[in-house]
Amino acid sequence: MVAVEVVPGVYWVGAVDWSIRDFHSYVTRHGTTYNAYLIKAEKVALVDTVRAEFSRQLLANVEGITPPEEIDYIVVNHVEPDHSGAMPAVMNAARSAKVLATEAGVNGLLRHYHRRDWPLVAVKTGDELALGGKTLSFIEAPMLHWPDSMFTYLKEDGLLLPNDAFGQHLATSQRFDDEVQDLMGAAAGYYANILMPFAPQVARMIEKLRNLGLRIETIAPSHGVIWRKYPAKIVQAYMEWSGGRSENKAVVVFDSMWGSTEKMAYAIADGVASRGVEAKVFHLRRSDTSDVLKEILDARAIIIGSSTLNNGPLPAMVSFLACMRGLRPRGKGTAAFGSYG
Ligand code: FEO
Repeated sequence: MVAVEVVPGVYWVGAVDWSIRDFHSYVTRHGTTYNAYLIKAEKVALVDTVRAEFSRQLLANVEGITPPEEIDYIVVNHVEPDHSGAMPAVMNAARSAKVLATEAGVNGLLRHYHRRDWPLVAVKTGDELALGGKTLSFIEAPMLHWPDSMFTYLKEDGLLLPNDAFGQHLATSQRFDDEVQDLMGAAAGYYANILMPFAPQVARMIEKLRNLGLRIETIAPSHGVIWRKYPAKIVQAYMEWSGGRSENKAVVVFDSMWGSTEKMAYAIADGVASRGVEAKVFHLRRSDTSDVLKEILDARAIIIGSSTLNNGPLPAMVSFLACMRGLRPRGKGTAAFGSYG
């Protein structure tokens, strides 16, 4: 994909990964994008890069706007390799660029790339970078979703660049929220699988953005499309998800050895439905955990069933429970069932 102007002087220069289907165990049935943004004012800044194998594409997109050697600053909002993997290639092309990141980000870059010759500068909340006509302001966002995470805000344009937050794993030739269908479903799946354990930090960050009095007109995350028409809608959704808002819905998740637990799962779902509550049923070995988690996000109850194997739950259930322990869904009613000998 070629560069696309997001707001005057700011360009999407990232890459679309149409083929990725497993993002460290998150099933990405619809691929993803790695979004990087080039800000061209009197000075030139690149905010985030892309996964290493897309380095050439990033640089080609930058070249369509300005020679890469003219990049003055590279802002690394997050060191995870899907956003910093192209740093060696970019630093090779932009030899006079300074690199800005949080203190944890600077340490992360050193530990990932071992390049003490890179001019790394640590920034913190409230620090600003004047580009001449455009001003970047930095907001630390620890544990959204790594300790190094940071949001960058472009003051003159009301443009928030929050890296992973507000993203979606969605490969598309469109770049904006008003051009795609079922975006909230993609955003919900992304939140459930990546940000669910960090609900308190999400709530605190939204409060922080409010207290800073930022005028947010566009939200351009590092995955998926850019919220130019509905930025308030995704912020509202994050407030509700982080606050544990639930629907009148129960999710039944099970694994079964010889079918008894399966029969119980369907009977329980029928019972739930007979009381006017929506029921969703997932056979764990025939479902993607990522889909189950998306449904759990706004469910009021999680009902778990397994028969026994060697005095414990079936292996698929053990794996699922380990995943749930990490994601820590809050405020859900729970129940368990199963058949055993
Ligand atoms: Fe998209 Fe935390 O990386």
